[in-house]
Amino acid sequence: MPPRRRPRVPGSRSTPAGEHVPILLDEILSVLAPLESAIVVDCTVGFGGHAQRLLQQLGPRGQLFGFDLDGTYLETVQRRLAAVGTPFRLVQTNFAAIVPVLAEAGVPQVDAILADLGMSSMQVDDPQRGFSSRRDGPLDMRMDRSRGRTAAEVLRDLSRDELAQAFREWGDEPQAERIAQAIVQQRRVRPLQRTSELTQLILRAAPVQEVQNHPGALPFRRQKWLPVTRVFQALRILVNRELANLQALLRCLPQVLKPGGRVAILSFHSGEDRLVKAAFREGFHQGIYQRIAEEPIRPTEAEKLANPRSRSAKLRWAVRADATKTTTTAAAIVPSPGTPGTESKASPFS
Ligand SMILES: C[S@@+](CC[C@H](N)C(=O)[O-])C[C@H]1O[C@@H](n2cnc3c(N)ncnc32)[C@H](O)[C@@H]1O
Repeated sequence: MPPRRRPRVPGSRSTPAGEHVPILLDEILSVLAPLESAIVVDCTVGFGGHAQRLLQQLGPRGQLFGFDLDGTYLETVQRRLAAVGTPFRLVQTNFAAIVPVLAEAGVPQVDAILADLGMSSMQVDDPQRGFSSRRDGPLDMRMDRSRGRTAAEVLRDLSRDELAQAFREWGDEPQAERIAQAIVQQRRVRPLQRTSELTQLILRAAPVQEVQNHPGALPFRRQKWLPVTRVFQALRILVNRELANLQALLRCLPQVLKPGGRVAILSFHSGEDRLVKAAFREGFHQGIYQRIAEEPIRPTEAEKLANPRSRSAKLRWAVRADATKTTTTAAAIVPSPGTPGTESKASPFS
């Protein structure tokens, strides 16, 4: 009998319900290329897709730490990764806390670090999480549901100008002011509670002029939806303080990577990619990184077609400089009292 296929999520051509298809998987493996004895951190373990393949590269002396802000899927991922048979440990934490979390585990420096930013398909596809404009649910959007303000609270509390700025900066939304104004008017009557209410408000407040005869122009039904997608993205970034967390991780990398250790960061938003590019370039000029990606690695057309969620992905990588260059330059970027020096073991990367 042929194996039964898992149902697909409506609107997604690729992802079975309750799963996440890892993006640029082969490229990430070849960038990080961990040796069997490597210690690897997956900062955003999600459904464990990247982690599973990384674990398969490691031997019994290797180890993987998987972090995620969202504890919802960790039990499932625990079972998935246990099947590989290589040592690993999952921790529900913000990757911004990588230094104390690794220190507590007695592993101050590691050989490879991956961060696959943004949200997983499971999070988007669950209407109760409020991430998707296509499914009605509460306006929550918190990755860690145990703390922080929900999207509904942010929309209720921020000023018109603060909302407009977020939509402009983190959503690249040209009609940011009009949308912010409409939200402020609406909340005087009744604050927004549901994703469908926000979606309808944006569609009314920011009608889109059809762009025609433009090479690569989207069909009009998708153009109309762009302001909604951009505002939802900006709100998610705001609710989860995503850029601040990324900046904190970028600052910690020189401290937690062994000499010769590698980092790969997969981003889905121009603001994130700019931060990664700037940090790697600055680190390269300061001698902290010996090599960095000149250009981001992008998914192939075949991957974009098979997994539309990969469309905007950009992968950047950097290799930590040798021990001789580490101490002063790392300290210059990360002035932390606990900065480890160069006494760590040599990297297992050849
Ligand atoms: C794109 S998914 C990762 C998917 C994963 N690579 C896989 O193959 O299944 C991103 C994950 O990062 C988590 N995340 C986002 N920001 C985080 C942060 N600051 N610290 C830890 N995890 C975070 C999200 O909860 C989500 O599960």
